[in-house]
Amino acid sequence: MDAVETMNKARSAPADTGKTPLIDIRNLRVTFPSGGAAPKTVLKGIDLAVKSGEIVGLVGESGAGKTTLARSILGVPPGPGRIAGGEVHFEGRQILSLSEAEFRRLRGRRLSVVVPNPRAELNPLLRTGDQIASMAKIHLGVNGKEARRLALQMLRDVQIPDPERRMDAYPHELSGGMAQRVVIAMALICNPAFVISDDATSGLDVTVQAQILALLTKLVAEQGSAMLFITRDVGITAHFCDRIAVLFSGEIVELAPREALFLEPAHPYTLMLLASFSHSPRLRDSWSVPDTSRRRELAAGCQYADRCPIAQPVCRERRPPFAENGPGHFARCHFPVRHG
Ligand SMILES: Nc1ncnc2c1ncn2[C@@H]1O[C@H](COP(=O)(O)OP(=O)(O)OP(=O)(O)O)[C@@H](O)[C@H]1O
Ligand code: SF4
Ligand SMILES: [Mg+2]
Repeated sequence: MDAVETMNKARSAPADTGKTPLIDIRNLRVTFPSGGAAPKTVLKGIDLAVKSGEIVGLVGESGAGKTTLARSILGVPPGPGRIAGGEVHFEGRQILSLSEAEFRRLRGRRLSVVVPNPRAELNPLLRTGDQIASMAKIHLGVNGKEARRLALQMLRDVQIPDPERRMDAYPHELSGGMAQRVVIAMALICNPAFVISDDATSGLDVTVQAQILALLTKLVAEQGSAMLFITRDVGITAHFCDRIAVLFSGEIVELAPREALFLEPAHPYTLMLLASFSHSPRLRDSWSVPDTSRRRELAAGCQYADRCPIAQPVCRERRPPFAENGPGHFARCHFPVRHG
């Protein structure tokens, strides 16, 4: 069975269709200080809810604010950024108002993140097995023997070859793909309810990338967790995300079930994103968002107006509403694209 088949099989696990979201991000705003001037707003009021069993893709070009969102959900926006407003409700609690100690208990245990560049995540001086086991000791309160048993099981689950031997390996003895599997093992050992994968497979070759994605998807399905899958590559989300949110310049400009996003994109930016990626996936690495945050005329209107081929005067004057164009399909545009 190839990696994509495995992903799709794993995704056939039924999603919880209950109404209460597992995580509910409401009007989240993050600012960065801007040398005496007004702070720069990098997240401009993010609303996003994810249910148990769901995988939501978050797509956007470099600088759109994806990592800022991921880290802000975990209560640690990238410094010197700060959460300027909004709420994150998780398992019935508004977690942004938790104390740092309470938040620390939640991170790793119930909320977990997988990042790219696994070598930077791993301690070069500690053996792989000890690093994974320490997550279980800290967060699950199990003894050393049980923690090592769980760590070994987790290495098996992430399909590391020869897991007994890898328990005693140091990070420099692992390939990039293996190190990424170890980081996933650390992120999932406590069976978190919500996993954020922030560009976790960038830099890996295509085959390993597909294997890691299949693995993440399978583990999330088996553990009944939910995942926010962050990437610059919209194409990758077509394989397994239930819904996809498109982030542009700190705003979600479109949110739709997977089929609707790919077959009937409503926002001009999404259209451009899909057209460009189908021609040249490499474009994504050279893209970045122009810094529009200090421009007064755009502060009032649509963030995309400078680049939009169908912009009208009203687009610069009034912020477009995040309007529903179909079941669960929202776009922030005064003139959404109509299909059919
Ligand atoms: N230390 C900082 N000081 C000021 N602004 C910052 C800082 N770090 C990030 N930003 C701003 O936050 C914006 C979003 O950055 P972020 O890292 O969240 O983007 P991203 O979508 O994750 O990009 P990438 O795809 O390259 O990882 C950037 O465009 C930048 O303007
Ligand atoms: S609101 Fe106007 S400028 Fe913005 S995406 Fe829609 S048409 Fe383009
Ligand atoms: Mg990032």
